[in-house]
Amino acid sequence: MECQRLSLLHCLLFHGLILALLVTNGVSQSDKKSYVVYMGNQPKGGSSTASLHTSMLQDVFGSDSVTKSVLYSYKRTINGFVVELTEDEARKIAGVSGVVSVFPNEKKILHTTRSWDFMGFSEQVQRQTSESDVIIGVLDTGIWPESESFNDHGLGPPPDKWKGSCPAATNFTCNNKIIGAQFYRSNGLFNSDDFISPRDSDGHGTHTASTAAGRLVNRASLFGLGTGTARGGVPSARIAVYKICWSDGCYDADILAAFDDAIADGVDIISLSVGSTIPNDYFRDSISIGAFHAMRNRILTVNSAGNQGPGRATITNFSPWTLSVAASTIDRKFLTRVKLGNGVIYEGVSINTFDLKNKMYPIIHGRNAPNRSSTPASSRFCLGNSLNRNLVKGKIVVCDRLVSGSEPLAAGAIGALFQDNRPRDVARSFPLPASHLDMVDGSRIFVYINSTRNASATIFKSDEGNDTMAPYVASFSSRGPNPITPDILKPDLTAPGVDILAAWSLVSTVSEVSGDDRLVPFNIISGTSMSCPHVSAAAAYIKSFHPTWSPSAIKSALMTTASPMSSGMNSDAEFAYGSGHLNPLKAINPGLIYDSDEVDYVNFLCRQGYGTRLLEQVTRDDTTCPEARNGTVPDLNYPSFSVFTSSSTTVSHVFNRTVTNVGSPMAVYRSNVSFPTGALKIRVNPDVLSFTSVGEKLSFEVTVEGTTVESMVSGSLVWDDGEHRVRSPIVVFVSIST
Ligand SMILES: *[C@@H]1O[C@H](CO)[C@@H](O)[C@H](O)[C@H]1NC(C)=O
Ligand SMILES: *[C@@H]1O[C@H](CO)[C@@H](O)[C@H](O)[C@H]1NC(C)=O
Ligand SMILES: *[C@@H]1O[C@H](CO)[C@@H](O)[C@H](O)[C@H]1NC(C)=O
Ligand SMILES: *[C@@H]1O[C@H](CO)[C@@H](O)[C@H](O)[C@H]1NC(C)=O
Ligand SMILES: *[C@@H]1O[C@H](CO)[C@@H](O)[C@H](O)[C@H]1NC(C)=O
Ligand SMILES: *[C@@H]1O[C@H](CO)[C@@H](O)[C@H](O)[C@H]1NC(C)=O
Ligand SMILES: *[C@@H]1O[C@H](CO)[C@@H](O)[C@H](O)[C@H]1NC(C)=O
Ligand SMILES: *[C@@H]1O[C@H](CO)[C@@H](O)[C@H](O)[C@H]1NC(C)=O
Repeated sequence: MECQRLSLLHCLLFHGLILALLVTNGVSQSDKKSYVVYMGNQPKGGSSTASLHTSMLQDVFGSDSVTKSVLYSYKRTINGFVVELTEDEARKIAGVSGVVSVFPNEKKILHTTRSWDFMGFSEQVQRQTSESDVIIGVLDTGIWPESESFNDHGLGPPPDKWKGSCPAATNFTCNNKIIGAQFYRSNGLFNSDDFISPRDSDGHGTHTASTAAGRLVNRASLFGLGTGTARGGVPSARIAVYKICWSDGCYDADILAAFDDAIADGVDIISLSVGSTIPNDYFRDSISIGAFHAMRNRILTVNSAGNQGPGRATITNFSPWTLSVAASTIDRKFLTRVKLGNGVIYEGVSINTFDLKNKMYPIIHGRNAPNRSSTPASSRFCLGNSLNRNLVKGKIVVCDRLVSGSEPLAAGAIGALFQDNRPRDVARSFPLPASHLDMVDGSRIFVYINSTRNASATIFKSDEGNDTMAPYVASFSSRGPNPITPDILKPDLTAPGVDILAAWSLVSTVSEVSGDDRLVPFNIISGTSMSCPHVSAAAAYIKSFHPTWSPSAIKSALMTTASPMSSGMNSDAEFAYGSGHLNPLKAINPGLIYDSDEVDYVNFLCRQGYGTRLLEQVTRDDTTCPEARNGTVPDLNYPSFSVFTSSSTTVSHVFNRTVTNVGSPMAVYRSNVSFPTGALKIRVNPDVLSFTSVGEKLSFEVTVEGTTVESMVSGSLVWDDGEHRVRSPIVVFVSIST
């Protein structure tokens, strides 16, 4: 297959590069470098293993010349050592019984999939061996199982609790990384692009799965862009694939079937980067329903918020029992410069892997190149079939709108420039050299074109820039408030979702635009789809430290430890970023958690007007709503605070919350409320919580009172014991839409 040839080519280039270095540096085969000889766990009662390592080397090499170069012996948990060896010697050691593996002690490149490092979650973070007991169910477009990101080197068989399976004879093989894979297509209709198997023909599912739990892949890049080590947040966790999306979309029937299986199979976390475009009632939405049943089985569902931003109330996954994730930027951005014949250079945004080698090409405005049957009014936007091939062939076309680039490519253009006033916070890929410019630069280019006889231009391959303003929420990220229950703040938090490099399907092209023929093992894409698996991974990471925590406890930990973000950079404030920016490392030690279980969600639904009968049907047990609907039904113990007052600007609201101590047994937490001075008063009672044991629960009330004229005002409550800062946003708003 062409695709496999491509990955082979990468492999060959990779080795070719190393070979070239060896030759130019005059390094010979006999030169030594340091290797790690790994021998698994320490043997029981093993003493003085350093001497065992030495004698092992003596046995193999028959002299003490090698033993002198032992650099380090592992002594405590791991059995193994670091030693200087030639390649031949390394091979020899690898064959010795008891040796699990021998690998070069290379310097890791701290970059790429940049997003984890950006959050301070380095390759070296403390990890639990039980991470490989954590199973992330990924409901998506399937997976490309041969991707390096899914190799299972060093992973044992699936955990005992795993009850899922892998289909036989569908040209798809599971391993100890991808431990299960199913596909769902209730209508039985398949397009010619669809693999009738869990295999991913799109790339999306491969990308999300590898972002969550991909292994480390060195020197991953998209044609040199984003070069570094690609990795998921939990490289040892298992992936269970549930293919629910096909070339025509993702159907509710299939989504629910996948939830049904995933829950029974024993996944720990469900990652679902799929959503509708309109908000649905909680029990008319396959995702909300599926996630509700997952919650009943102590499985947390992590959802993308949606890509319908930046308008208010555009979020589509917002049920209280799921974790809804917005998308924000990281500090790496891709810039694509354009040079005109007059030497002036403009900087646009795109992911341009093409290299025009500084060659100048004629430049033309789409408006001046309408097809016979088209008009300048549509050719200026480079819409389908609008351009005249004879006029644009071999040229760079300027379009007055950000479009896919398929029309310029189809009409024979060599490149395209898009100029409009759309936000340029996301770099997109196009099937031809292209850059997205703002309208100021666009109009300067028009002046140049109009005033120059043989106007020309070139487009450079993209450069990586440092976005020092990051993180901020991307314009496309769907915003709150929650359209069904305004009193539950959504989204819950934000995570990296812009220009993320991760694994890709080898049959899908870089831009996914027809005419593009670039097939790649890694691709850079954006969306809340990309931020969601970052949070799924962080949830799995928590699970590996706290296997018994409930889905709400994990969610609370992620929310209360999120890094605060600035409303100065994000005009929608909490409606854009919820509790703030994901901080996986902090989330394993939150101090306090806002826990809730099934009965709390049922009570919440009762308050929302869902009757006992409906809830009985949902749960199929003797679930009943408490008699009284007002006041006596406890608040949902949510880790954030939101008050919506539609009718009046006078606010009087009491939140009742209970926190569970998961930090030090003896801990005194003091409350600290930050809120804009003026109109509203916030009181916390009691304002000190003194714990004497782990697992102890204490309740408190937060009272919001006063009048507000602003459409939205927000601040925070922090419980602080000197070690933990348990932070929750407090949002008061009087209008959903502005
Ligand atoms: C199996 O998948 C590979 C990878 O895409 C493809 O090249 C091959 O044609 C498939 N074989 C069958 C029998 O579908
Ligand atoms: C961007 O700049 C900041 C601050 O100077 C630095 O900490 C960070 O590592 C840089 N990021 C990249 C991707 O170079
Ligand atoms: C004009 O558009 C039609 C499709 O509407 C296409 O078939 C034709 O090739 C185009 N002609 C030129 C000169 O680009
Ligand atoms: C360029 O010329 C076109 C007519 O060919 C005109 O419509 C347009 O306004 C001119 N643009 C500028 C910036 O001068
Ligand atoms: C414009 O291009 C034509 C054809 O390539 C060439 O003959 C002419 O000299 C050029 N004119 C200028 C001013 O560069
Ligand atoms: C419900 O609220 C009303 C008004 O606050 C109150 O009069 C009534 O007693 C409450 N009912 C119950 C059962 O608490
Ligand atoms: C707040 O919740 C706690 C625990 O559920 C409960 O004991 C207490 O009565 C509640 N207080 C109010 C005012 O609802
Ligand atoms: C409360 O929080 C603010 C802002 O984070 C901080 O400046 C202040 O020192 C805190 N106060 C106490 C008593 O901890």
